[in-house]
Amino acid sequence: METHHNALINFMKDKDIKTMAEVGAAMSKMTELILNIYKHCITQYWATDIWGWNEANKIYINVSKTEWDIRYFHACQLMCCYPQLRVIKGSALEIFEIFPESFFNLVYIDADHHYDFMASTIKNWRPLIKTDGFLLGKIPRKKPEELLRAVSDCIKETDVIIDQDGQLWTHRVQ
Ligand SMILES: C[S@@+](CC[C@H](N)C(=O)[O-])C[C@H]1O[C@@H](n2cnc3c(N)ncnc32)[C@H](O)[C@@H]1O
Repeated sequence: METHHNALINFMKDKDIKTMAEVGAAMSKMTELILNIYKHCITQYWATDIWGWNEANKIYINVSKTEWDIRYFHACQLMCCYPQLRVIKGSALEIFEIFPESFFNLVYIDADHHYDFMASTIKNWRPLIKTDGFLLGKIPRKKPEELLRAVSDCIKETDVIIDQDGQLWTHRVQ
């Protein structure tokens, strides 16, 4: 298990998370882990990803269309095992509009780590979280500065906590 997976699993302990979204589900590793561990608590888990190439996120340039389709197909197949799972293929910059305000207890962002994406995603997804819910995301090991700058520009510094291993930033929505 990757360390940021552990960090999120530990974060979720003792939190009453019923409805959550993962922005950037990729190969559904995190999705499966969380649903396995917390399947008795979670009533809706929304796994979202573009599952395709994106001009803004060039690091996936070598992933073929077939491979993206396989990853998306795998996420869809998991809906047969986990009735709480809903899969949406699309950019986080657009699909937030599907949801009403104050819908989620937790939104986990692990997608494009560039400034503009992070700033827009925080701005668009935060209103979708209930009071006392959580907005959080993975901090990349390589070049975390840009992502952390977007977080601190969008959320008051005192309202953001970075975990001791530097894996996750978290914000409790007031
Ligand atoms: C690091 S991977 C996610 C890993 C996954 N959360 C896990 O822990 O197993 C990042 C994912 O973000 C997705 N992504 C990139 N830009 C996106 C966007 N604009 N909207 C939604 N997903 C995006 C990529 O397609 C990629 O699959």
